[in-house]
Amino acid sequence: MKRIIIQGSSRSKENTNKVVRLLMKELEFDVVDLSLKKIEYFDYEFKNQKDDFLSIIKQIAEEYELIVFATPVYWYSMSGIMKTFFDRLSDCLKIEKETGRKLIGKNMAVISCGSDETETEGFFTPFRNSAEYLGMTYLGNIHTWIEDELVSNKVETRIQNFVKLLLEAETNTVINNM
Ligand SMILES: Cc1cc2nc3c(=O)[nH]c(=O)nc-3n(C[C@H](O)[C@H](O)[C@H](O)COP(=O)(O)O)c2cc1C
Repeated sequence: MKRIIIQGSSRSKENTNKVVRLLMKELEFDVVDLSLKKIEYFDYEFKNQKDDFLSIIKQIAEEYELIVFATPVYWYSMSGIMKTFFDRLSDCLKIEKETGRKLIGKNMAVISCGSDETETEGFFTPFRNSAEYLGMTYLGNIHTWIEDELVSNKVETRIQNFVKLLLEAETNTVINNM
């Protein structure tokens, strides 16, 4: 089962990436760093099709069964970069329907990374609802945080439990497809 992390931080190698790297120590993932890509805002006239969105989403739809979104918490919400990516998923409902159909049945999970242990109420709702709308299976989420530039033991434990959840879901998917 191929897995990919879509990292949506404004900086490539800081807090969210620390958590991403820990996850990658436990499980094999490819990564897309959205901050290095050119993804324009959603356009009702679809005049933005020459940016990087289409090639990224087509590759995801073709190759991966598990998609993990990793986003920092910016103003109690997902990052702007991540939100723009989600807005552009609308392209897959309008002009790239074939790609949209290929997302059906794929697994989605989410990691947030804040500066505070407290999870923002409703933070994961847009992800869960988007998965449902797209026909994807929402496996779950974890909130993480970085204090004094360090990943705490509590966060490490959360990541380990998250890995167990992802592996269990993969096992179930394999069994159901037999
Ligand atoms: C624009 C901005 C808004 C933020 N808003 C929040 C917030 O609402 N809640 C929170 O816990 N942390 C907030 N933070 C702190 C970041 O979530 C935290 O430092 C995170 O670990 C940064 O991850 P990054 O290094 O990948 O950007 C904010 C940081 C920035 C830059």
